[in-house]
Amino acid sequence: MSTTWLGELLSEDGRRDPYPVYARLHEHGPVVGLPHGSKHAAIVHGHAAVGRVLRDPDFHVLDAEYLDRGSTRWRAHPAVRTMQHSLFNDSGDHLARTRRVFGQAFGSTRVSALEPMITRITDHLLDRLADAGGAPVDFMTRFALRLPSDVIGEVLGVPERDRAAFPDRVRTFDAILELGQRSLRELRAADTAAEELTSYFAGLVAARRAAPEDDLISVLAASDALSEPVLLANLVVVFNAGFRTTANLLGNGLHLLLTHPDALDALRADPATASSCVEEVLRFDPPVHFAIRYATKDTEVEGVEVPRGRTVLILTAAANRDPSRFADPDRFDPSRTDNHHYAFSAGPHFCVGAALGRAEGRIALSRLVARFPFPALAAPPGPRHHFMLRGHDRLEVRFR
Ligand code: HEM
Repeated sequence: MSTTWLGELLSEDGRRDPYPVYARLHEHGPVVGLPHGSKHAAIVHGHAAVGRVLRDPDFHVLDAEYLDRGSTRWRAHPAVRTMQHSLFNDSGDHLARTRRVFGQAFGSTRVSALEPMITRITDHLLDRLADAGGAPVDFMTRFALRLPSDVIGEVLGVPERDRAAFPDRVRTFDAILELGQRSLRELRAADTAAEELTSYFAGLVAARRAAPEDDLISVLAASDALSEPVLLANLVVVFNAGFRTTANLLGNGLHLLLTHPDALDALRADPATASSCVEEVLRFDPPVHFAIRYATKDTEVEGVEVPRGRTVLILTAAANRDPSRFADPDRFDPSRTDNHHYAFSAGPHFCVGAALGRAEGRIALSRLVARFPFPALAAPPGPRHHFMLRGHDRLEVRFR
């Protein structure tokens, strides 16, 4: 059975709806070992086991040391180099130092101060949705992709006129993050996108060094806390990480509300429930389904051996539906309490932008429902195929 788990997940059916596969994985305990020759040594999907591996110092992200063991050819690819220079693939003291810089910039105190700006942008975008006069509108392009791009653009200091060029480049770059094989064509396109984004940010950093403004890039440009390649890689990656993840939280969230009228009624009746509603969206239908780590020494997870140098596939989205942790895990229930999900991962790589993503979700969904009390799906959304950045390409909605 175990040989087929990865095949099942990556099949057409598995990609469209991985939850039946997750449910069967849970019947086999918290971890399944995969046979020798598999891409990963094990799949970790039980809630407690996922938390343990993500926090275990013997498991690392796929850093340069890991990649070099296979081949050093990755160094010729700007997209992979960018990821390797960023927080995502860093570890140890260097990671801690870089996280201090970005942790401050996106911590909860800072995010509270950003709320008026998020509200202003939200209301502006809602005005534009109202312009359609109740005709079907694609929520993704007209709202969900705009809000996070404008918010992260404001925080970093990316001028509004430049933001239109981001969605395509970000999408192309992000293709390298997906689970399973990627084609050389996708990798080359991601390389080009990474080079364009890096040179864009290099120009902006130089401009802010010459004439600082009241934005994060000016602060980072004036500091010597990070080397230039690390600064640029993290600017590219922070923009990307804060963009389509949050857009998918908004799209997945609105879709869940439109298909669960009780949840929509409850949010309309009491906007203060937006926070628990967002947590339940993140548990039930998270924008990111997995993380990968490798063992830096021979070890085990829940009795399943993981030899040094082998990877484990950590299914955070499956952990969010673990029946031993959540009562009735396949029910979308925004009134759920004790909702400890792994949508933002855990441990040393816990999402730097969690407070910002949560604030955007809370403000956007509550204000949207207050402004348009009776939104309705105008067409079924297209199927979803991705495990990383899982969201709707289109979401046609009538805003009434
Ligand atoms: C709902 C929105 C979001 C979701 C679901 C999300 C999800 C995640 C997840 C799962 C990880 C960890 C990956 C791993 O463990 O390997 C992560 C890391 C990260 N996220 Fe988010 N994220 C969101 C919003 C944001 C925002 C708004 C920002 C921008 C500030 C951001 C910046 C980052 C960064 C820089 C990392 C890397 C941290 C590290 O590896 O140390 N994210 N995010």
